[in-house]
Amino acid sequence: MTARRPTIGVFDSGFGGLTVLKALLEVIPGADYIYFGDTARLPYGSKSVETVARYAVEAAHYLEDQGAGVLVIACNTATALALDRITAAAHVPVVGVVEPGAEAAASVSKNKKVVVIGTEATVSSHAYRKALEGRGLDAREKACPLLVPLVEEGWVDHPVTEEVAHIYLGEAFGDGFHDADALVLGCTHYPLLKPLLHRVAPPHVRIVDSAESTARVVATRLQKLLPPTPAAQVERRSLPRLKFFATDSVEKFRRLGERFLGHSIEDVRHVDLKE
Ligand code: DGL
Repeated sequence: MTARRPTIGVFDSGFGGLTVLKALLEVIPGADYIYFGDTARLPYGSKSVETVARYAVEAAHYLEDQGAGVLVIACNTATALALDRITAAAHVPVVGVVEPGAEAAASVSKNKKVVVIGTEATVSSHAYRKALEGRGLDAREKACPLLVPLVEEGWVDHPVTEEVAHIYLGEAFGDGFHDADALVLGCTHYPLLKPLLHRVAPPHVRIVDSAESTARVVATRLQKLLPPTPAAQVERRSLPRLKFFATDSVEKFRRLGERFLGHSIEDVRHVDLKE
């Protein structure tokens, strides 16, 4: 008898959560993955709590029906606005990105002062600030709504994006926050901007990628959730099995998604979630 490999369901409003899937694949290559991108209804970052919670719960149920044994809410906006609602509605463990991101920031910030960047909705919820203040850190949150469309345009190393980032970070690190020493990437799209943000952020600032922190937390949770299996019984396959579901064009998901995941995307199916 071989032990079943865990199936991890990853949910995002669209393509951005593929940065979280990429981080998960690095840390947990021995799992199977089902990714759900709600591309027909993105962006979530400008929507209300009610709407985001309703969409996210529908997606969580879909992933459970497809066999996910644990859910990763890769979308910062959905985590910030609706993690409690998703967790209450789900029948499997749920991991969001805010707590892991805050924990990682707390461990790298020497001054206990950090800046968090994210969507309008994430920033308005103050989920990151609460998580950071709960760990004794002072936090300033800054909405950077132009960065998502710029990343989706592929302008990850473009002078326009650099100028926009200069303005946002100038405001975020100004006025009493010059000594903040960590920058939390509180949005799925921002890991693609890491090289640019390294150039633009003050030199003493460490960048905290909530995608990477989340992947490490999921790995630890899986070890606790799944009973230890003797090595000889573990089902071995060289590659993880990846299945993708998108609520809008499959072709567009493949094309844009490859940029976020860093390699080609094969098995994408269209799914229509009825309102
Ligand atoms: N996935 C969203 C987030 O991480 C960004 C894109 C959107 O607004 O839907 O907040």
